[in-house]
Amino acid sequence: MKNLFKISTLALVSLIIISACKKDEDEPDTTPSTPAVAGLYDQIKSDSGYTYFDGGKLLSGKAPSPHGSFKLRFNSIAQAALDTSGALPAGSQFPENSIIVKDIYKGGSLAIYAVMQKKASDPNVASGWVWVEYGPSGNEIYRASLKGAGCTGCHSTDKHRDYVKTFDLH
Ligand code: HEC
Repeated sequence: MKNLFKISTLALVSLIIISACKKDEDEPDTTPSTPAVAGLYDQIKSDSGYTYFDGGKLLSGKAPSPHGSFKLRFNSIAQAALDTSGALPAGSQFPENSIIVKDIYKGGSLAIYAVMQKKASDPNVASGWVWVEYGPSGNEIYRASLKGAGCTGCHSTDKHRDYVKTFDLH
């Protein structure tokens, strides 16, 4: 009788565990992005308040860039760190809350916003930056929660200035 009780308790506990796990699988992933990242798309979707690199010329990605044709823009905080030639002085760092947006074009239209945001306090930060890519309507193509795993390896290779590659290539 004691054994039977043990077995049925075990069965009940397993059933609870199984149904708890199943519930997780069925529910959509509604885990919210962190507030900083949730608000980030709204800060990058328009170019108002941004200054374009090289007068807004459409540039071709230089090896080893995977990004293709692009225009580059800096928010006013990032722009303030650039020298008169429009580059970050070698050895300098971008200040907190700098945002750099790479508007990537495919077939003449905007396809991807690749974004770096300097945000030490953000849980998604890697090498000082939040790394994220959005589609034109704000869907995260490359999720910030991946912590730049697909980005920092390349952006930390020589040469870079605070993980920004453009200045030494364009
Ligand atoms: C294999 C190398 C490589 C990988 C991987 C890579 N990038 Fe880049 N990225 C570059 C290069 C090179 C540039 C310089 C501009 C150009 O020629 O395209 C650049 C430029 C940028 C810029 C403009 C600022 C700068 O550094 O010049 C942003 C923003 C950016 N990348 C975001 C990302 C994000 C986000 C990821 C990951 C999802 C990523 N990159 C992955 C090579 C890479």
